Order: sequence, then C-alpha cells, then structure tokens
Amino acid sequence: MLGFGTYGRRGPEGVDAMLTALETGYRHLDTAQDYENETEVGQAVARSGLPRESIFVTTKIAPRHYPRGSLLPSLRESLDKLSLDQVDLTLLHWPSPNDEVPLAHYVEQLAEARSSGLSRLIGVSNFTIDLLEQTIAMLGKDAIANNQFELNPHMQNKRLADFSQSKGILVTCYLPIAHGTLGDDPILQDIARTHDATVAQIAIAFELAKGYAAIPTSGKPERIRENYAASKIVLTPQQIASIATLDQGKRRIDPEWGPKWD
Ligand SMILES: NC(=O)c1ccc[n+]([C@@H]2O[C@H](COP(=O)([O-])OP(=O)(O)OC[C@H]3O[C@@H](n4cnc5c(N)ncnc54)[C@H](OP(=O)(O)O)[C@@H]3O)[C@@H](O)[C@H]2O)c1
Repeated sequence: MLGFGTYGRRGPEGVDAMLTALETGYRHLDTAQDYENETEVGQAVARSGLPRESIFVTTKIAPRHYPRGSLLPSLRESLDKLSLDQVDLTLLHWPSPNDEVPLAHYVEQLAEARSSGLSRLIGVSNFTIDLLEQTIAMLGKDAIANNQFELNPHMQNKRLADFSQSKGILVTCYLPIAHGTLGDDPILQDIARTHDATVAQIAIAFELAKGYAAIPTSGKPERIRENYAASKIVLTPQQIASIATLDQGKRRIDPEWGPKWD
C-alpha cells in the first residue's frame, strides 16, 4: 500500500534512490513508459537481491501506444527494459488526449495485457467516474484493479475516490505529499506534533487510513525513510475527520488535454 514513486528518478542516482527505498522496506515501485526509467527500475529490482515475487512493479502505458496493435508491443518493450517476464500492474496512464483514440480500442488491448500474462493486474490512471463506468461496462465489474490519481489532504478528490472504492477499485494517490508543500497547514502541523512526525508523514498516514495506496517519491535517503515510517503512524478517528476538512480542491497536475474532471 505504501509504494515508491519513481518519476524523476533516473540514471545511477535514480537506481540508488530505488535501492534505498527497497532497503528501507518499500516493496512497490511505480514507473511509467513516459518516465524513461524502466531500465533503472529493472536494475534496482535485480540489484536488490530480493525475490522477484516480493516486489510489486507497476508501469503505465503512454497514450501514444493506444492505437490498435500498439499497446502490447509497447508493453513487451517495457518488460525488456524492466528485465521482467510480467509486471504486477499495468495502467493506462491517461485517457486518450482529446479522445484521439476511441476508449474501446485501448481498453480492449489493456484486457489482452492481462489475458496474455504480460501483466498480472490491470488498471487506469487519471480516469473520471464517467470513464470508469464506461470501462467497467466493457470489461466487467472485477477487471479494473486500480485507479491512480492526484490525492492528498489539499486535493481529496472525494467523489472519485468514493466511486472507485464502491466499485472495488483500489485508489492509489499520486502527489500524496503535494510535492512537499503541505508544511504550512496549521491543522496538519498540530497533528504532526502529537505524533512527533512531519506533515508529509501525516498526509501519508491519512491516505493509508482511508484505505488508499500512496506512492511518494524523494531523491533524498532521509526523506525516503521518513516517508516510509509514516506507515507506522496510527491517526485517531478525530484526526482523520479533521484532515478530511482540509480539502481545497487544489489540483496540481491539470494538462489542457486532460479529461473533464469530476
Ligand atoms: N499517474 C500519473 O499521472 C502520475 C502523475 C504524477 C505522479 N505520479 C506518480 O506519483 C509519484 C509521486 O508523485 P510526485 O513525485 O509528483 O509527488 P510527491 O511524491 O507528492 O512529491 C515529491 C516531491 O516532494 C519532495 N519530498 C519528498 N518527501 C518529502 C518530505 N518528507 N518532506 C518534504 N518534501 C518531500 C521531493 O523532493 P526531494 O526529492 O528533494 O526530497 C519531491 O520533489 C511519482 O513519482 C509517480 O510515480 C503519477
């Protein structure tokens, strides 16, 4: 449930950060074709010496690979870079920008990624309620394991999170610590003080308490460890309720070609 985000973790420093994460205890690495670091993720998995089955690896298909006949070859290329036979989870990174590729064309290929064994589980990212409903109608109710989208105390995306959970779809929070910008929030600061923790840790503890997965990243070993230690923090029901009031709907990732958000 607490994974290591790998956006921006590239080259030897990127591998070192991932190895630090795995040594710390993280067992979930989140990459994407567009992060151009699948090779580094593969190197970290291999160099960690951990059994392959103990590490959960997610990758995401870039929308340029959505036209019919493109998605599976691109996933095979990702597996080559990762030096893996199978990823644990393959996500559609975004809905096709401006609906250039019809949803059915890439959803049916995603299903093939699982039926062919290239991916153990399949899911989506940045999908809205409407897109989730359409996808469930195409693939059936238990096909989609995960929806990954922006979620942190200042951007709680509650309707989408509730809808996803009501359909048995695990929510994964990206930007779980809002790029480290939550430090000025007095309520988070107060709660952090009572746990002798940082606000970043409180944000992660909140997300885990809500039943979401979270994938913070850092290039700094001390922060990689700090973020991981958040999994030990147990918030009180009152603290969870008070963090729930902090939503500002503050979306940071909002490309003009993105979907019509809920
Ligand atoms: N599906 C999607 O479309 C999508 C979009 C965005 C991200 N993601 C995934 O989500 C992961 C996380 O998102 P993100 O990397 O954008 O945001 P994030 O994890 O919320 O923030 C990372 C930033 O916060 C800083 N930071 C890390 N730990 C900190 C701490 N304890 N205190 C203060 N600052 C801290 C880091 O700087 P330092 O390195 O200097 O510590 C880094 O700049 C990504 O790596 C990626 O895997 C997915």
